[in-house]
This record gives sequence, structure tokens and C-alpha cells, in this order.
Amino acid sequence: MSDTNDIPGGKDVLVEFDDGIAWVYLNRPDKRNAMSVELAREMNAVFDALEIDDRAKVIVLSGKGEAFSAGMDLQGFFRATDKVTDVARHRAYRETRAWQWRTLIHYAKPTIAMVNGWCFGGAFTPLICCDLAITDKDATFGLSEINWGIIPGGVVSKAITTLMGDREAMYYVMTGEKFDGTRAKELGLVNEAVPADKLRERTRELAMVLRDKNPTVLRQARMAVKWAREMDWEMASEYLQAKVDQTTFVDPEKGREQGLKQFLDEKTFKPGHGHYERREVEQS
Ligand code: ACO
Repeated sequence: MSDTNDIPGGKDVLVEFDDGIAWVYLNRPDKRNAMSVELAREMNAVFDALEIDDRAKVIVLSGKGEAFSAGMDLQGFFRATDKVTDVARHRAYRETRAWQWRTLIHYAKPTIAMVNGWCFGGAFTPLICCDLAITDKDATFGLSEINWGIIPGGVVSKAITTLMGDREAMYYVMTGEKFDGTRAKELGLVNEAVPADKLRERTRELAMVLRDKNPTVLRQARMAVKWAREMDWEMASEYLQAKVDQTTFVDPEKGREQGLKQFLDEKTFKPGHGHYERREVEQS
């Protein structure tokens, strides 16, 4: 971690602030952003810092250079942990898991993966655990583990089945075949596949939409989807009712009240067409 200008990261992870967006880059372009243990440590510190940094209302995760990420670092993760003590290995795996899925799944702020090139193996985990994803339509994806003699471990085999159908997941796990961004969109791995020269612009546009929502309601809505999908219908119904009430209770903007008033009484907006006007409200 460097504290130059109070910006987290600085070596294997770069952070740029831009009008409410924190662009977080894996920054090992010479190694195609392969993910080492050191990178995981820095990424953990960066995500911890950004969660309470007002300059970051939305996080975009991407890679510097030609790659989103070429997956786990075969030297700096696999070989580096082959000959260490069991405790050191456990720690390295825990640090890697932390940012790649535990933190991202439960992160307090909205996240978008912007896939700008190679995306292999372990890189599928943070890709899938971001809330949304946009890719260059010509980016290259691959579950290449089988090609060098391992199975998709970490939580890759679990993560892919949350978005891909069983036939497709099995096909790409078993063949290790590459596919492009357009195919990634068909598979449900990303929201959109756009030309390379539109990638940043479209990602920024989407980030701005998220930035301007009521952040409390947006956070609760994201969590509601993530938890409800793990529940049966009866539990989900009870949980969501409680979540709706909790959201209203904790929302400092009193969004529900504002929305009802502006639609029903003032007739100044229609929810079907856009967001209510966010106004300061008196705290009781
Ligand atoms: N681990 C360690 N080093 C890597 C990795 C990786 N995953 N990917 C790339 N590198 C390194 C290369 O060894 C090379 O290092 P060097 O310059 O010191 O020799 C450098 O990054 C550049 O890589 P090249 O292979 O020269 O780049 P090129 O653009 O020709 O190819 C490609 C890119 C296709 C991504 C290739 O590097 C590759 O196949 N990487 C491995 C991809 C992979 O299978 N990842 C999954 C790992 S398994 C897992 O994540 C669980």
C-alpha cells in the first residue's frame, strides 16, 4: 500500500478516482495481470479502503494493458505456495479468496467488472462476483485449467454454475476451449459485449446510473437478490418483507416516502421513466 495522495494501492493494484467512480485496475500488465499472493494482499487493502471512501460510490474492476486477468499466477500463486508450510499456504488461499469472492459478494458498494482482454481461469471468480459486467466483444475468455492439468478450483466451478447453464459450464470446463466476449454475453457471464473503443465509455455511463441512485436502497436491493436466491420461496418471501421494512427504516433519504409523494401528490415523476428527485430530508 502506498499513501501517495491518499490513494490506496499503487503497485499491483492501481486506483483512479473519477467523479464518484473508483476504477480499480489489476496492474501487472507484463504478466497479463496474473493474480499472485502479493496482488491479493494489495487488493484486500484496496477494497477495505474504498468501502469507506466517499470518493468511491461505484467500483469498476478492470485490468491494465492487454488483459483483464490471465488467471491465477502459476509462479506467484501455485508454485509459490507449493513448498511453504501448511499454515502459510492456508493463509495465501484465504487472502486470495477474501477479495475474489467473499468481499465482492458482500461489498457495500456496487461493482462492475470491465473485461478488457484475456480472462482465464481464476479471473472468472471476481468477474462473476461483481454485480454487473461489461466486456470488449473481442476479449478472450477461457476455463484453461484442464489445459495445464488441474481442475477449475478456488470457487471457479461453483461460480460459473451461478451464471452458466450446466451444459455450457461442463463444455468449457472439459474442453478448455476459448470464447469471445459476444459468446460470454450469450452465456450470461456479462451484461453487455461492446466494441473495444466503446468499452470505457459504456462502463462509465452505467456506473453513473448506479452512482445517482439512492445508495442505501441500492445496497439493500443488491443484498436482497444475493440472499434470496439461496432460499426457498417461503423463506425468501419472509426475508424480503423484512428487508423491505428494514430498508425503509435505515434509509436516511426516506426514499420510499419521497417516491410516493413525488408520484402521488406532486405528480413530478413517474417511476417507470426514471428515479425520483433525491432531496435533503430532515432527520427526526
Ligand atoms: N501465471 C503466471 N504468469 C503468467 C500467466 C499466469 N497465469 N499468464 C501470463 N503470464 C506471464 C507469462 O509467463 C509471461 O511472462 P514472461 O514475460 O516473464 O515470460 C508474461 O506473463 C506474458 O505472457 P505471454 O504468454 O508472453 O503473453 P501472450 O500475450 O503471448 O499470451 C496468454 C497471453 C494467452 C494469456 C498466455 O500468457 C497464457 O496462456 N497465460 C495463462 C492463462 C491461463 O491458463 N490462466 C489460468 C491459470 S489457472 C487458474 O487461474 C486457476
